[in-house]
Amino acid sequence: MGKNITLTVIKADVGGFVGHSSVHPELLETARGILTGSPLLIDFCVTHVGDDINLIMTHETGKDNGEIHQLAWDTFASCTRIAKKLKLYGAGQDLLSDAFSGNIKGLGPGVAELEFEERGSEPVIVFMADKTEPGAWNLPLYKMFADPFNTIGLVIDPKMHKGFLFEVCDLIENKKVTFSCPEELYDMLVFIGAPGRYVIKSVFQKETKEIVAASSTQKLNLMAGRYVGKDDPVLLVRCQSGFPAVGEVLEPFANPHLVSGWMRGSHTGPLMPVPVVNSNPTRFDGPPRVVALGFQLCEGRLLGPQDFFADPSYDLARQKANEIANFIRSMGPFEPHRLHLDEMEYTTLPEVSNRLKDRFEKMRLS
Ligand code: F6R
Ligand code: MG
Ligand code: MG
Repeated sequence: MGKNITLTVIKADVGGFVGHSSVHPELLETARGILTGSPLLIDFCVTHVGDDINLIMTHETGKDNGEIHQLAWDTFASCTRIAKKLKLYGAGQDLLSDAFSGNIKGLGPGVAELEFEERGSEPVIVFMADKTEPGAWNLPLYKMFADPFNTIGLVIDPKMHKGFLFEVCDLIENKKVTFSCPEELYDMLVFIGAPGRYVIKSVFQKETKEIVAASSTQKLNLMAGRYVGKDDPVLLVRCQSGFPAVGEVLEPFANPHLVSGWMRGSHTGPLMPVPVVNSNPTRFDGPPRVVALGFQLCEGRLLGPQDFFADPSYDLARQKANEIANFIRSMGPFEPHRLHLDEMEYTTLPEVSNRLKDRFEKMRLS
């Protein structure tokens, strides 16, 4: 067995430029400078989606490694110092603790990691989204790994024909369950169709048990004992040779689906596929964006990125997303554009209810 490679992506919003729309170039340069000096990494790519900095890193120290998480924490802490100096918006907002304590999970930044033995050729895609939540990956992951209308390989590639295993987390009760598909598709859909609570964490090939995909599932809004915001998610997917092809992995995004997030983390809107350069959400702080960066791994080195959604074949998806955005915006503060009361990141309900409580009268039931 060769040595395992770990692909780790850690992301945080440590200050927006301007407002919550993008990242100041000095922050990206600061992050690059710090990672360049690290002996822990084989390679890295520092990039962003909207106001989130994404550290894409490869190394041989395995998943959940304290030193790698420390490196990311220190990088975000240094970026926060610059963000504060420049008075960027919400400087340090995702660093919920003053001190790092060994593992970055639960402290604010989002993490997705894949540990595997690098194949003869190893194409991977890093998806990064802004103004939405980890459950936004449920529908595309279902299409990639379980829907033959999306992934023809499930039907005609003997290496994929047996299907995949899906690990699903219940973010409210902190439990997980694994579904074997296609046999348990209908059971699984009962849960993953409710992406605010049930989130696909990982996907494995059924026969070999090899890990194929991993998402970030930290739900920031339930952390630190209070509702502090939706956690803009990342997703890592290995492609080809018995896993879905690059084009099968990208295909779900050709048809934008509705996700939770957008303005004040309290609205439903379409997920628009865009290249990095167009990933800055502006209209009503949105609509939510997704970027897909492709890399070929070579002994852990990251060859790339290919900015996949720069391709004009996603133009229609963007147009459709704009049309859906226009339509749903016309509903203003009404559900389902505004999220259900339990899901909103901002609410004035307790204060207004309290102020008006004496004006509410009991109603008779007849
Ligand atoms: C959504 C988001 C923005 C802000 C909005 C208000 O995830 O980041 O839509 O919620 O711009 O921000 P504040 O309350 O900071 O003025
Ligand atoms: Mg922000
Ligand atoms: Mg963000």
